[in-house]
Amino acid sequence: MSSEPPFPTEDDLERGRLLFAQECEFLLGVADLHQLPGSDLAEVAFAGRSNVGKSSLVNALTGRKTLARTSNTPGRTQQINVFELGGRLILSDLPGYGFAEAPKPLVQKWTNLVRAYLRGRVQLRRVCVLVDARHGIKPSDTEMMKMLDAAAVGYQVVLTKCDKLGPTARAERIAEVAAQAARHVAAHPEIVPTSSVTGDGIPLLRAHLAALA
Ligand code: GTP
Ligand code: MG
Repeated sequence: MSSEPPFPTEDDLERGRLLFAQECEFLLGVADLHQLPGSDLAEVAFAGRSNVGKSSLVNALTGRKTLARTSNTPGRTQQINVFELGGRLILSDLPGYGFAEAPKPLVQKWTNLVRAYLRGRVQLRRVCVLVDARHGIKPSDTEMMKMLDAAAVGYQVVLTKCDKLGPTARAERIAEVAAQAARHVAAHPEIVPTSSVTGDGIPLLRAHLAALA
């Protein structure tokens, strides 16, 4: 039996708070992989269906309303937007997948970019796979998760827009998604429920990410 206290301890939360209280700087938008900055810093990427709330989550984590551009229109983020947090951690906001209305060649271009990035980026410590709490895991999410399993890239499912669910539906969704994640080898067992509107779950996610920095 391990005597370690359960995650997160007060110290874990405080480490997360301190890390994300640091200056966060937009480095660049990357449309081609060779533009990615060479860096030894640990990196965390935010992946998920279009409009799931990736850019909003980056803003909520860093406490900056307009750092990453968000939009009601799916497909807002069309390149990999790279941020540096306190000289400790790189955050990558990825273009969304599963956006049916976008022109096919464009979708193919983003998909290729994201896949090549996720498979080849050695600094990548974790991918946050964002899933809309109202909808649960969709086939395109499963496809992403399988790709990450195959590439042995560790990821964690983060539920977004939890403010849209009542407590019972939310608890049911967490249990359902945890059971699905358990079937994937590279998935972190813990699901993090968040809301970028209320700030719910943000300190917990900061703690998880700070543990990687
Ligand atoms: P793409 O870049 O197009 O892939 O989208 P994205 O995943 O970056 O989503 P974005 O952050 O732009 O948010 C999409 C929409 O969802 C916006 O209208 C946000 O205001 C809304 N949204 C994001 N997070 C939340 C949340 O936690 N709760 C609620 N209620 N709305 C949210
Ligand atoms: Mg976005």
